[in-house]
Amino acid sequence: MRREMRFVTLVDNSAGLRRGVMAEHGFSAYLEFGGYRLLFDAGQTFAATRNADLLGIDLSGVPIALSHGHYDHTGGLSALLARTGPVPVYAHPEVFASRYSRREGALRQIGIPLDRGDLEEMGAAFDLSRQAREISPGVWLTGEIPRAVDFEAPSEDLVVVSEDGEIEVDPIADDQALILVLKRGLFVILGCAHSGMISTLLHAQRVTGVERILGVAGGTHLGYGGEERLKETIAALRSFEIEILAPSHCTGSAAASALSAQLPDRFIYNCVGTKIVL
Ligand SMILES: [Fe+2]
Ligand SMILES: [Fe+2]
Repeated sequence: MRREMRFVTLVDNSAGLRRGVMAEHGFSAYLEFGGYRLLFDAGQTFAATRNADLLGIDLSGVPIALSHGHYDHTGGLSALLARTGPVPVYAHPEVFASRYSRREGALRQIGIPLDRGDLEEMGAAFDLSRQAREISPGVWLTGEIPRAVDFEAPSEDLVVVSEDGEIEVDPIADDQALILVLKRGLFVILGCAHSGMISTLLHAQRVTGVERILGVAGGTHLGYGGEERLKETIAALRSFEIEILAPSHCTGSAAASALSAQLPDRFIYNCVGTKIVL
């Protein structure tokens, strides 16, 4: 049978068995869909390029899409662009926003650590949109994701500073997922799922008009959302009849263990080097 899709995790918080691959707090995935190739997110440093080399993946000419502007998804852009050469970079206009995490009263900068002009000089042709769009046949970016369930409220720890110095919760409007429309249903790839995993899946159904969600991979943010959100998410996931559940990155080990225990027939341990071929 001819394969439709190849998904490979290039950057994750955990490293797999392949010798020499590097883990870091971040996310990047390489995709092939028919003849189309795409990088979704860039990781934090040079791990994506190092791991791609070790996994035998040629990055030249591969376009890049970004899930959102956080450093752990965008910091590796300059290293990637050195390999891809000039390529389109699909993202939301707010991907360049200054943003912070707030821990014990202290603010830490967690936005994109690279300058737009520098990235453009390296060959990034930014293609920015707030809307859902099909960047190649059957390959969708969700655009902004409305929060559709009450247990997926924005995190109080992620903030922006307004022009008059007010600290406000960051809605992370630029958060988006990637959707591949396969014959048997949707394969949804999450960056950090700041808008919520369930809200993202509901939006993916709406955007594509396809009901069946075959698989979900990537960062779920369930490691930061608390017990209630995890419980509600697992309950909601049962209703989707997903065959492949490959959470990674900001899912964290406790939430991943819960997902594995509650949905054992669907769960795949997803780390650097994990391949899913459908
Ligand atoms: Fe994030
Ligand atoms: Fe993240």
